[in-house]
Amino acid sequence: MPDRFYERLERELRTIEALDKFRSLQVYPGIDFGSNDYLGFAVDAELRARTLERAQVLPNSASSSRLLPGYHAPHRVAEERFAAFMGTEAALFFNSGYDANMALLTTLPNRHDRVFYDERCHASIYDGVRAGPATSERFKHSSPEALRDLLNTGSREGACFIVLESVYSMDGDIAPIAEFHEIAKAFDAMLIVDEAHATGVLGNRGAGLVSETLSRDASVISMHTCGKALGAAGAFVAANRTVVQYLINKARPFIFTTASPPIIPALIVNVLERLSSEGTSLVETLKDRSRDVRESLKRSLKRWSVPHGITPIVPIIIGPAGEAMRASELLRERGFEIPAVRPPSVPEGTSRLRMNISLRHSEQELKSAIRAISEVEEEVVG
Ligand SMILES: Cc1ncc(COP(=O)(O)O)c(C=O)c1O
Repeated sequence: MPDRFYERLERELRTIEALDKFRSLQVYPGIDFGSNDYLGFAVDAELRARTLERAQVLPNSASSSRLLPGYHAPHRVAEERFAAFMGTEAALFFNSGYDANMALLTTLPNRHDRVFYDERCHASIYDGVRAGPATSERFKHSSPEALRDLLNTGSREGACFIVLESVYSMDGDIAPIAEFHEIAKAFDAMLIVDEAHATGVLGNRGAGLVSETLSRDASVISMHTCGKALGAAGAFVAANRTVVQYLINKARPFIFTTASPPIIPALIVNVLERLSSEGTSLVETLKDRSRDVRESLKRSLKRWSVPHGITPIVPIIIGPAGEAMRASELLRERGFEIPAVRPPSVPEGTSRLRMNISLRHSEQELKSAIRAISEVEEEVVG
């Protein structure tokens, strides 16, 4: 056994433990406020039954890459339906949002280009930017002014890409997309919008924020994960035909992987049908519920705070990391899974509980969770 290698791993693991940052995998038994299943589609019996019926005639696995026989009818249908849902010329399905972001950021910019990305972007965007060939710079969170300042400096020879999310997962805040779009236009830049937490949650029929006005603009590319509100897995890039053709030909995370089992896009087709008919009212109900939970928490909490917002991501700001961890543990003992988030995922001194509201929660579950959070505040802060 290569002893020195294992010694190194053990040493690093013990350091992580000493910093109180050791992670292990567990199956969570309590009422789930940590997942991103905002519409309850992940446990929807009707969607499951319809999809399983279809599964009877589908292979269990795609068995090869999309460019080989791994491309099955449900992949094609899901892409066509998603493009129609978004109002874009085309859409391309990836096995995950991580793959989609890696594909966009390692394939579209070349080494003469510049990529500007919001400092609070998801790790998949950071990783894509880092792995890609372009020069990159972060701009201050949701600050069009900071971005404009950066764009005004440096070379203007290559293409420019601006990358942001429409809803940020740690605060549930919404980006001023229209302002960023204005800047993209002014600087002749491409705008890439990660709609992971907006798809199924905001916009007409739950199509996200780009769908409202920007999806037909060739300078805008959006990315939509299917493992969150859509209750499935994978992700779409929605864009014009040229971008999609380019990705099919050049994106390594698309080409060099086995396509997802066809039952996944078959499920997504059923989800899109549901959103097309009921999406707008589901989105409104989710907004109402999230607002009610925020207001109840604001009324019942004494020291912890809940920022203003309209999305189902409800952060409960506690401050010290230890207190946030303790709060999450005490809630688990009471039967609620509400994860704590600490630096570096959030700024120092803003450790929090991150409570995700879903239409799968009953009124009773929401009420008892709010009561439990306020009891736990009393126990932790005194
Ligand atoms: C903003 C954002 N982008 C991308 C991803 C990656 O998506 P996926 O889980 O489908 O890989 C996530 C979540 O995991 C996310 O929150």
